[in-house]
Amino acid sequence: CSRADQLCDAGLGFDESTCGTTSSSKLLIKGGTVVNAHHQEVADVYVEDGIIIAVKPNIKVGDDVAVLDATGKYVMPGGIDPHTHLAFEFMGTQTVDDFFSGQAAALAGGTTMHIDFVIPVNGSLSAGLETYEKKAKKSCMDYGFHMAITKWDEVVSQEMEIMVKEKGINSFKFFLAYKGALMISDELLLQGLKKCKSLGALAMVHAENGDAVYEGQERMIELGITGPEGHALSRPAVLEGEATSRAIRLASFVNTPLYVVHVMSIDAMEEIARARKAGQRVIGEPVVSGLILDDSVLWDPDFVNAAKYVMSPPIRPSGHDKALQAALSTGILQLVGTDHCVFNSTQKAVGIDDFRKIPNGVNGIEERMHLVWDTMVESGQISVSDYVRITSTECARIFNIYPKKGAILAGSDADIIILNPNASFEISAKSHHTRSDTNVYDGKRGKGKVEVTISGGRIVWENNELKVVPGAGKYIEMPAFSYLFDGIGKADAQYLSSLRAPVKRSQSTNLHSS
Ligand code: URP
Ligand code: ZN
Ligand code: ZN
Ligand code: ZN
Repeated sequence: CSRADQLCDAGLGFDESTCGTTSSSKLLIKGGTVVNAHHQEVADVYVEDGIIIAVKPNIKVGDDVAVLDATGKYVMPGGIDPHTHLAFEFMGTQTVDDFFSGQAAALAGGTTMHIDFVIPVNGSLSAGLETYEKKAKKSCMDYGFHMAITKWDEVVSQEMEIMVKEKGINSFKFFLAYKGALMISDELLLQGLKKCKSLGALAMVHAENGDAVYEGQERMIELGITGPEGHALSRPAVLEGEATSRAIRLASFVNTPLYVVHVMSIDAMEEIARARKAGQRVIGEPVVSGLILDDSVLWDPDFVNAAKYVMSPPIRPSGHDKALQAALSTGILQLVGTDHCVFNSTQKAVGIDDFRKIPNGVNGIEERMHLVWDTMVESGQISVSDYVRITSTECARIFNIYPKKGAILAGSDADIIILNPNASFEISAKSHHTRSDTNVYDGKRGKGKVEVTISGGRIVWENNELKVVPGAGKYIEMPAFSYLFDGIGKADAQYLSSLRAPVKRSQSTNLHSS
């Protein structure tokens, strides 16, 4: 489907009529080191009609089967990005990457599935889902949906039930920031946590104190700090720590699992560590920008260069990045996302005189697999198995689609990458596949290169060539009650019986004197 690829490279979109299948439906990957989150071994992987049929040494096949030699390379589950915003309408504009260009970029970087956030329309979940179903029609890889909750009433509560029981959505995001836009109150968060618990759906939070951020922004403007550095200064890590702590404690009060998205600071990470140490089910998701970048870039005198790094919570001062890496390597944080939410420099320029107007968001969907490999595996911080866990398997488990996704096992979807640990990658805004004219990782090089991406059994990335098929991506329904909910009912029963234990009091004679 070279036409679609040319169109993709030109950033023009696609033409469904020109596209067909791109390779044989039977595929053998020979001689690579197959890595799962629990184990690795040298083996062949045989794929038919989009499904992995066998994983074992020395598989013999007929000549109707396409063969890929993976000797000396790692054969791993394709990446799953738990956090993206494609075709997202935000801060008065829309992200430049839609479900086709964003996914094409993802596939070029070894990610074969992503979970995007549906935003309700005027609070309506069903209207929001319809909008996103249309946006996603051009998908060239598999995807799932989280849903944001932006208001609360009986209708929203009932719609949450429909989303979980009929539409394959098992997670809801609550924004504690973006005052006047997406932000919700603690009262709504409590209702939402209760509802999530009853449905077996995972509550997710954007944890920053939105009222205090508003105050911080006013403070910067009064001081005359209107540039991108004002963004970082107005919403310091203490406000992320506060909101993370609040959300965690409310989730504990309700006794339901919590997923903290885009953990950007030591402050937030330490709240998660404390809660997990106390036995609470809290998942922490760092994103690539938080693991790798520091906020010095926001002081760049060139506005275009500084503004491209504006995202929320902000990229933190040097030191937070390394601490988040350490937390990821030791299991305090569990998986890596990107928060891919891309605006080009003209869109960012709306905030040239006022940082509050710069659309928030950075790229990463294409770079995540390479940068996590280089930063975490090449540096010696984690094993190759742990790499598979934090980029793919743990996401599949949390969102209850394992082992269909996140594994190289017989019966799993054939979403596979071949990574050459001896080749190197280089990131450039000139050659990347996102439609953005900038890249926050521009110029970064490293070790480890995704040489082949297989999506649904088709080779979609090979020899630095994309062969993507619009419409080939499938919507992946995610069932409720993931492993995070196991045992929650037992803990509730124990709590209730502790409350009902009779209190023995000696009779007070005084009260009976009259
Ligand atoms: O700056 C960001 N993170 N933009 C996307 C919206 C969000 O908060 O995830
Ligand atoms: Zn292309
Ligand atoms: Zn957010
Ligand atoms: Zn986000």
